[in-house]
Amino acid sequence: MTPFENYLTQHDEEAWSAALTTLLRSIHEVDQNATQIWFAFYPLALFQALAASDDPEKLRQQLLMQGTYHLRDQIDSSHTFLYGHRYWPEVKRAVEQLAREFKAGESLADQILAVAQKVASSVKVDRSLVVGITAVAFMTMRQAGLDAFAASPGRILIDKKHARKSPEDVLRERAKDDSQGLFGFLRTVNKKWTVTYDENDEGAKYRMNHVQDLAWGAAEDRTRNWREIDPRRVEGPIPVECRSASCGTCWVGVLGGAEKLSDVAAREGKKIKEFGYIDTPESKPLIRLACQAQTHGAVSIVIPPWNGVFGKYLKGLKNNP
Ligand code: FES
Repeated sequence: MTPFENYLTQHDEEAWSAALTTLLRSIHEVDQNATQIWFAFYPLALFQALAASDDPEKLRQQLLMQGTYHLRDQIDSSHTFLYGHRYWPEVKRAVEQLAREFKAGESLADQILAVAQKVASSVKVDRSLVVGITAVAFMTMRQAGLDAFAASPGRILIDKKHARKSPEDVLRERAKDDSQGLFGFLRTVNKKWTVTYDENDEGAKYRMNHVQDLAWGAAEDRTRNWREIDPRRVEGPIPVECRSASCGTCWVGVLGGAEKLSDVAAREGKKIKEFGYIDTPESKPLIRLACQAQTHGAVSIVIPPWNGVFGKYLKGLKNNP
């Protein structure tokens, strides 16, 4: 293990979470939610539990994990929903260089800020646009290891048209609500809202009824062969099984419009914590169960490539290490 990898392993989930809190104020608004969502999608404590297990496959089954959960299998692709993804080749190179020339001494947050500054100067953008993606690169190296990280091609995986958008363009699109026509204000039941589930794909949108839950709305979208794209997607773009907050399949991150979703009700709040996805008293958090969250406006979401039920297990490990 290189000194840099060793340094990264000395930071546990709490240390990363403290670093992320420090970094948030240095991250551009366009990537503040996205960075927090990414860190929720790839929890370090779960990675550590799998790595420490004598039989990771058995543990995976026990935790009902399905889909692509290892960062080593998606080094270039896990973060396409961050605005900073468009600087990934430069960020990846800079983190590899740090790994070769690493000198300890600075805090994790300061190391990340220093690399972000270097990249920002070389690509001539404001540092705030690359802090989030640099934090993602550090955690990806932590979970995938230097060899796999360096072996990945380091490609930008969004098309040129989307890569050209300014942060303001993206924020404007996220803030937009659907017009309900000239007399829309009179409507109560027939309102329709657009859900965007991949901001880098023009066709990745579906329309749904006012106060319908995100998963029911998605089920009506028959524009693609969903099962072929991801076997967890039995109907529509959002994977679902129970539709009653029991299985944890349908978790999503909310990039824009979290305030337009219904408050987290008691059952969603309790179950999402048990699944392990988020532990917060907030009424409109960035991670939701799509079968529970109802919408009152247009929202932009991101669908994680895996799901599982690991909250209780990790809590048990913490209490009895
Ligand atoms: S579909 Fe099972 S928790 Fe939402």
